[in-house]
Amino acid sequence: MHGCRVQLGNLPPRVRTPLPGRAARRFVDALARTECPALTTRRRRRAERTGAAHDPIVWRAARGANVVDVDGNVYVDLTAGFGAAAVGHAHPAVVEAVQRQAGRLVHALGDVHPSDVKVRLLLRLARLAPFPDARVILGLSGADAMEAALKTAHLATGRAGVLAFVGGYHGLSHGPLALCGYSDRFRQPFAAALRSEVRFAPFPRAGRDDAERALSAVRDAWGDASIGAVVVEPIQGRGGVVVPPRGFLAGLARLARERGALLVSDEVLTGLGRTGARWRMQAEGVVPDLVCVGKALGGGLPVSATLGPSSVMAAWGDPSAEAIHTGTFFGHPLGCAAALASLEVIAAERLAERAARVGSAWLERLHVALADVPFVREVRGAGLLVGIELDDGVRTLTVVRRLLERGYLTLAAGMRAEVLQLCPPLDIDEALLDGFVEVLREVLLA
Ligand SMILES: Cc1ncc(COP(=O)(O)O)c(C=O)c1O
Repeated sequence: MHGCRVQLGNLPPRVRTPLPGRAARRFVDALARTECPALTTRRRRRAERTGAAHDPIVWRAARGANVVDVDGNVYVDLTAGFGAAAVGHAHPAVVEAVQRQAGRLVHALGDVHPSDVKVRLLLRLARLAPFPDARVILGLSGADAMEAALKTAHLATGRAGVLAFVGGYHGLSHGPLALCGYSDRFRQPFAAALRSEVRFAPFPRAGRDDAERALSAVRDAWGDASIGAVVVEPIQGRGGVVVPPRGFLAGLARLARERGALLVSDEVLTGLGRTGARWRMQAEGVVPDLVCVGKALGGGLPVSATLGPSSVMAAWGDPSAEAIHTGTFFGHPLGCAAALASLEVIAAERLAERAARVGSAWLERLHVALADVPFVREVRGAGLLVGIELDDGVRTLTVVRRLLERGYLTLAAGMRAEVLQLCPPLDIDEALLDGFVEVLREVLLA
């Protein structure tokens, strides 16, 4: 950060050490000794597959679109910290709200005696819901939001079955893990502990699959199962930024209604402006029965929510005087204060509109710049969620590493890691996006 404190947030990348640098290496060694061994093993496996080192950098600071590592290297974060830093890292309004809240009240008594700030967040979220008279269940993670949606659908329909999609990702606690269509390997070791009635349908892709044919495949997958929830990401994120064909989501909503199941829209990644609208599902003309939101909501703090109309949420009924769904930290005052600030920034800075405008211009530039790169299969996305599909996952993982060495943080997505996923902060400087296009082309052609 030396001498550049003022601009940190929209600086171009500056990497001056081999990665990881000397300071990071000490942390990486400590990681190998202390964290779950599977994570170190995964990095080693990736290094073996790609022939490139995959040790991580270690973050020391982050602001706006920039991350600074413990060796002083500056990166541009095109992951927005898994989508959570939609308003940028450490947005001053979020930091100030958290500091102010911390000076007043750090922790309250959740569903027994709530904090004022929790009630304010509930009111705010209810107003943002895509249906009138919304009720809200707060959580900490996207997986929490999904757990609450699955329980609500079960109570409302009396059916525990779920229809989900190949490539879908909804978090990894036991409820959503059962619906993880992203990789069998995530579910398989825990199969005995997971709900059994889950049907997976193929997720169609715009420009390749036909909506009606895809709906017919959904009917086939549904069969005679007792389905209470149809769970779908309006654009699959971790599954590889897969945009479904027009009409598919509307058809899915009709099918769910005809058959008495609830449509659960997982907007944990796509919601709150990421794809150029507050809700991607609503932008497609579809009103779901339940919406899950997380990531961007907390402006970097862990907050999530499940929204439903009161007619659906009434299914929770009278829980025999017990709160049958709660958690010590649900509605945590610091998270609620951060969420209110983050929602305010998204609205005041019109970040959904900006994501639509800046994202479509960027997508166009990427199309043009990569048109003649032979192993680029497709460039796609919506708003500031972009996927660049390459011919193979090893290549993508190698590209992710080369981009890191050039100072850009990106992630591989897709069931074979074949997609380079780009998901920058919604207020990122356009010059940084332009600079990336050039570097990406060079890296791909190197
Ligand atoms: C669409 C979607 N749903 C749910 C989740 C799970 O969220 P979390 O990791 O906060 O549990 C994710 C996380 O990547 C996601 O992308």
